[in-house]
Amino acid sequence: MTATDPATEVGQDVLRFPPDFLWGAATASFQIEGATTEDGRGPSIWDTFAATPGKVLGGDTGEPACDHYHRYADDVALMAELGLAAYRFSVAWPRVQPTGSGRVEPRGLAFYDRLVDSLLDRGIQPIATLYHWDLPQGLEDQGGWRSRETAHRFADYAALVHEHLSDRVKLWSTLNEPWCSAFLGYGNGVHAPGVADPAAALTAAHHLLLGHGLAMRAMRAQAGDDQRLSIVLNLSTVLADRDDEASREAVRKVDGLQNRLWLDAVMGRGYPADVLADTSWVVDWDGLVRDGDQEVIGAPLDWLGVNYYSPSRVAPAGAHVVTDGPHPGLRGVELLPPRGELTGFGWEQNAEAFTELLVRLGTEAAGVPVVVTENGSAFPDVVDAGRVADPERTRYLLDHLRAVHRAVERGADVRGYLAWSLLDNFEWAAGYSQRFGIVHVDYDTQVRTVKDSGRALARVIDRNAVPA
Ligand code: NOJ
Repeated sequence: MTATDPATEVGQDVLRFPPDFLWGAATASFQIEGATTEDGRGPSIWDTFAATPGKVLGGDTGEPACDHYHRYADDVALMAELGLAAYRFSVAWPRVQPTGSGRVEPRGLAFYDRLVDSLLDRGIQPIATLYHWDLPQGLEDQGGWRSRETAHRFADYAALVHEHLSDRVKLWSTLNEPWCSAFLGYGNGVHAPGVADPAAALTAAHHLLLGHGLAMRAMRAQAGDDQRLSIVLNLSTVLADRDDEASREAVRKVDGLQNRLWLDAVMGRGYPADVLADTSWVVDWDGLVRDGDQEVIGAPLDWLGVNYYSPSRVAPAGAHVVTDGPHPGLRGVELLPPRGELTGFGWEQNAEAFTELLVRLGTEAAGVPVVVTENGSAFPDVVDAGRVADPERTRYLLDHLRAVHRAVERGADVRGYLAWSLLDNFEWAAGYSQRFGIVHVDYDTQVRTVKDSGRALARVIDRNAVPA
């Protein structure tokens, strides 16, 4: 197939995406909103964590972020300018329920009303994530995700937000990347709440998944036929240098904790027996998982959100416990450094591994359409005469879109692609040091500048095709 854009790319071959392919970009509340004490918002674990010296690079906090709380209308106008058909945002639980349970803050809900209404006014489809890591501190004070109660509080909160917005929001995700919440938040402590305890990490994993299932049940009970409910997982391809038995075993173990623990559970297959066996020295699964939990967690999904950035590389490593890695209870495996071309954040660029992952989901998430809910790269950008030239990010974007296209050709049921991120933002423990945006943000002036990669995405969206 040949492009018809006469101005630039006459005669260039393009890879066309399926009709109705959903194009957009994503953000998350704590990373962009700022206004952390406004309109009754309660503190979240990320406010507390960022205020703790040494936890976030440069002492950065959720202020000012992108001041999106006040600038949402301009940001939506920018989305329209880029031609986005969809926008994935998250709802900040502590804006809606300042202490995580009980009293609802109407001013918090009103912000999401304004955001959703302005998206719809511009013909942009809202995709709401209910939990992108900003747990109300009030719940953490009672154990956070280590406590089974938190799963029930999450379901209550999900139901109330869903009830409020579901007349206008049709696409929903419960949790974003529960692997990170559990294993980085409670396993190695590099994310909020900063707990380093493998047993707590696996306990949190179960309670997060239970919270997902209970929220699915609560939303389903009040959902109309037009509601499409999902979870967003950070899945990855696990690579080893050799194909001998020890290497295959290393891959199996990491794949179990990174991918199958989550995917098998939400697909209704229960926790994989080998993962339970690998980690039974850390946690008493029989005491943790109650009768009926797996059925709740396995509630049918309408779609699956997948976030992909880079592969994991592993090698067998004798019997020692990996203490500094994120995977709780992992033994006998070494996580290898990334290789080849790296992003500015030091992450491996590997589009082929993305294709492999999406093709694999054709089997392991059979019957469930996939949306790429995040994919992107961080590089240090500079604004020069009103322009941000970011050839590396543009190349990463186009390479990964070609990878999605290859996966679709190989039968993967991928329905959409949302770039991470619309805006440069608060990159968790890395603070504002890493820029993932397709739009540059000057944090001093709050001026937005569309990067060349943003223009490249706009061109792709316009033609529903990527240069071959
Ligand atoms: C995944 C997370 O969902 C998002 O919040 C984060 O900024 C990106 N990965 C990049 O690390």
